[in-house]
Amino acid sequence: MSHIVKERQNEWLPKIEAALDQYTAECGSLHPELLAAMRYSLLDAGKRIRPILALEFCRAAGGHPEDAMPFACGVEMIHSYSLIHDDLPCMDDDDLRRGKPSCHIRFGEDTALLAGDALQPLAFETMLTRSTVSPALTVKAAGVLAHACGAAGMVGGQVIDLQNEGKNVGMKDLRLMDSGKTGAIIKAACLMGVIVAGGGEDLLHIADVYAENIGVAFQITDDILDVTSDAATLGKPVASDIENDKSTYVSLLGLDKAREEAARYTALAVEAVAPLGEKAEFLAAFAQMLAERIN
Ligand code: IPE
Ligand code: IPE
Ligand code: MG
Ligand code: MG
Ligand code: MG
Repeated sequence: MSHIVKERQNEWLPKIEAALDQYTAECGSLHPELLAAMRYSLLDAGKRIRPILALEFCRAAGGHPEDAMPFACGVEMIHSYSLIHDDLPCMDDDDLRRGKPSCHIRFGEDTALLAGDALQPLAFETMLTRSTVSPALTVKAAGVLAHACGAAGMVGGQVIDLQNEGKNVGMKDLRLMDSGKTGAIIKAACLMGVIVAGGGEDLLHIADVYAENIGVAFQITDDILDVTSDAATLGKPVASDIENDKSTYVSLLGLDKAREEAARYTALAVEAVAPLGEKAEFLAAFAQMLAERIN
């Protein structure tokens, strides 16, 4: 892993963990088991890709990276809820997540469903009440995530994913599904970082193109790892896509071509941030690391 990626991960991971811990500890849950389920899925695990993107785009756009922390945590809460629901028996029916039994295995389906439900508004409460930037920027950033996590983004993509099971879908539909279920939230993380920094349209455009491409590359790599990795390395079951007869880049193109596509989208992302000059160094290295990751 490149030096700059390692360095920034070392800088951010403990801070992200501490903020997530604090925001959930103070959320005022009426029920201890509900709070336990929320914290079980959210804390001590996960690569924190989306929070790091929000913090680093804020830095690249000339802002104070710490201003992006409530938004970084908001996007991670939304992502964690999406994983809790994604693992439920009515969806991918997976019993391992982030190296631990999935939330519904540990707490039961009812509590897992509700823990996911509770993480969603907590994400928005966190962004709206803990923001250190102006109300206008706060509302703009939160609006971006709201749009990205719903029918026009993550949830819409998840519906397409389920409906594509057992079907021979084309490349266009696959791309639409992946930019929805995975790309939209990754993109929201990048855009929120720029917004919090007060960045203009040119920077938003750069973030948009970078995120569009790493988003697709990220899901292609996820599909590849489902076939090539093992559960201990991945922290989640392998062959889940095959068992569920999912349409993926691997099922459609085969492993070699899928790898080429991940590399191609990664190169497009690196190209997109090149105009940022020195400030692109981390973002380019991060895109590369995501394509080479083993979990
Ligand atoms: C997994 O996301 C789900 C997808 C969108 C492909 P990550 O690979 O970022 O999972 P964590 O957060 O590190 O567990
Ligand atoms: C999940 O895609 C995307 C979201 C959770 C929104 P996958 O179903 O491939 O993710 P994993 O492999 O279970 O992490
Ligand atoms: Mg899924
Ligand atoms: Mg899944
Ligand atoms: Mg997967």
